[in-house]
Amino acid sequence: MLTLERVSKHFGGLTAVREVSLEVRAGDLLGIIGPNGAGKTTLFNVIAGYYRPDGGRVLLDGRDVAGQPPHAICRLGLTRTFQIVKPFGNLSVGDNVMIGALNRLRSVRAARVEAERVIETCGLTAQAGAPAKTLPVGLRKRLEVARALATRPRLLLLDEVMAGLNPAELAGIIELIRRLHADGLTLIVIEHIMAAMMRLAQRIVVLHHGETIAEGTPAEITRDRRVVDAYLGEEFVLAQA
Ligand SMILES: Nc1ncnc2c1ncn2[C@@H]1O[C@H](COP(=O)(O)OP(=O)(O)OP(=O)(O)O)[C@@H](O)[C@H]1O
Ligand SMILES: [Mg+2]
Repeated sequence: MLTLERVSKHFGGLTAVREVSLEVRAGDLLGIIGPNGAGKTTLFNVIAGYYRPDGGRVLLDGRDVAGQPPHAICRLGLTRTFQIVKPFGNLSVGDNVMIGALNRLRSVRAARVEAERVIETCGLTAQAGAPAKTLPVGLRKRLEVARALATRPRLLLLDEVMAGLNPAELAGIIELIRRLHADGLTLIVIEHIMAAMMRLAQRIVVLHHGETIAEGTPAEITRDRRVVDAYLGEEFVLAQA
């Protein structure tokens, strides 16, 4: 579904992403981990059309989409959430999600029906009429997922939707992601919470200084020396033992 071929992105003299290649097949749930500043979000920005890569190709269903704007890529079925959530604060939860749906649907009525469906899927029905800015952080992350889902993606990129959540909220969002995956959505998930990643991802790519340093199953990744040294740390290994 998505193929990256030696994708690079520089900011001035800084190489944020360096020749990253990866393959996502329909039905995959791929995890991306790595230290702060590893280039994870930048990679999402390149894939979703927010940045044009300085090198390499981004193939969606075999077609090079590098340089196409986000709304065009979204119409092809690929969308992402933002690490810093960006709802329209004064608009209701329902209207925020409806705006996502309008990316695909022409009629406001159809968009509203679609929004209601997605809001229910995301467990936000009780908050549908509330201004987005009044939501606590856990529900704001859900709203971010709902806005993305309303565009009807086939491939959804989630950028740290679990950050800052309490254990109950975390369990809820893991359950939601699992359900979406079981219903056929293909996902790429960036997350620092390793325990959650181990439960979710089938395969994990590890970025460090913009480069892929490892790729494998969660079990393989946690045994990988370079990953332990660059990111997980000895404490993690000891806790797993
Ligand atoms: N718009 C930008 N302009 C200049 N430098 C940037 C820009 N965006 C990111 N960077 C730099 O690129 C590198 C990769 O940043 P990125 O946000 O992709 O990391 P990340 O892996 O998502 O980190 P985190 O886990 O903290 O979210 C960092 O050194 C960052 O400072
Ligand atoms: Mg990031």
